[in-house]
Amino acid sequence: MDSLLNFVQDHKLLVSALAFVGFASVTSQLLAFLSVLAQTFILSGTKLSKFGSKRGAYAVVTGATDGIGREFAVQLAKAGFGVVLVSRSQAKLDALAEEISSKFNVPTKVHAMDFSEKELSDKYKALSQKIEGIDVGVLVNNVGRSHEMPVYFADGPEDEMNSIVNINVYGTLNITRLVLPKMIEKKNGLILNIGSFAGQVPSPMLATYSGSKAFLATWSQALAEEYKKKGIVVQLVNTFFVVSNMSKIRRASITTPTPKAFVKSALSHIGHSCGAIARPFTVTPYWSHSIADFFIGALNMPMLFITYSHNLHISIRARALKKKAKQQ
Ligand SMILES: NC(=O)c1ccc[n+]([C@@H]2O[C@H](COP(=O)([O-])OP(=O)(O)OC[C@H]3O[C@@H](n4cnc5c(N)ncnc54)[C@H](OP(=O)(O)O)[C@@H]3O)[C@@H](O)[C@H]2O)c1
Repeated sequence: MDSLLNFVQDHKLLVSALAFVGFASVTSQLLAFLSVLAQTFILSGTKLSKFGSKRGAYAVVTGATDGIGREFAVQLAKAGFGVVLVSRSQAKLDALAEEISSKFNVPTKVHAMDFSEKELSDKYKALSQKIEGIDVGVLVNNVGRSHEMPVYFADGPEDEMNSIVNINVYGTLNITRLVLPKMIEKKNGLILNIGSFAGQVPSPMLATYSGSKAFLATWSQALAEEYKKKGIVVQLVNTFFVVSNMSKIRRASITTPTPKAFVKSALSHIGHSCGAIARPFTVTPYWSHSIADFFIGALNMPMLFITYSHNLHISIRARALKKKAKQQ
């Protein structure tokens, strides 16, 4: 104890500097956390009316027939946008369009395409013609696929790798190129790109999916800066687990919302970051994901999460293989 006191006496300047740095760092983390809480629970985001709801504008939603995409289509229609539904199955698209137009009395258009295909220029051309004369206020780049089950990269099927990149990366780039020029012309628009925890924290055994979502994260940030002065809001919507076919989670919990709750949070936090406070043009909107995101960043120990995710995927693969063997 005496030696500690002596050290402090002899190095007053150094000790004061260290105390100041410690105080400043704790204060800045505390202020950041208060800001996360305010954005997540109190402040409301940019209103959808800014992007033309109830004034004839449309929302284009990809992967619109199920899960998160379906909820975006429904909630944007409810808010007063016409909707352009883009997805794989014509029958599901027609059924959803019928449901939306009868419930919310908004115009609908559908476009069936399979984003996993390599040659899609005719499909993009046809979609471009469908949206030619309409005012697109919102684009939700939601379509995405992951691996059937966690797998080491060299062992994964090549067609799965290609399909993930075609859907998650090329699908998003090409749809955005169709919609963006008109948004630039009218100096208004909202582009939401659906990201993933796997794009924030590298996910071993889901490497291609993880990399595709990391691509979306960085690309969204670059795009957002390019077009912010043109009145276009671009945001990466960071998503942890949500109940859906893709997540294979059927029951909602504190950490896993329904698509309805998740999309409601995304549409009410436009322009905020919530838990993604350290990452520009990114929002982690759902409250429990938001708080988790903040602490993942504050801990600054990426290896902890990479190792955790690796071990988790080893056990998920073992269970999935067991289930598959039983079914055969
Ligand atoms: N759920 C989660 O826990 C979670 C977590 C992080 C990120 N995300 C992201 O959220 C987005 C939506 O996921 P989700 O969980 O809502 O998925 P989902 O419930 O499986 O729905 C996927 C939607 O995309 C369509 N789709 C799938 N493959 C397609 C293709 N090749 N071409 C055209 N459309 C296709 C499906 O159409 P069909 O109905 O015809 O199959 C369906 O409408 C994805 O980008 C995903 O990466 C989800």
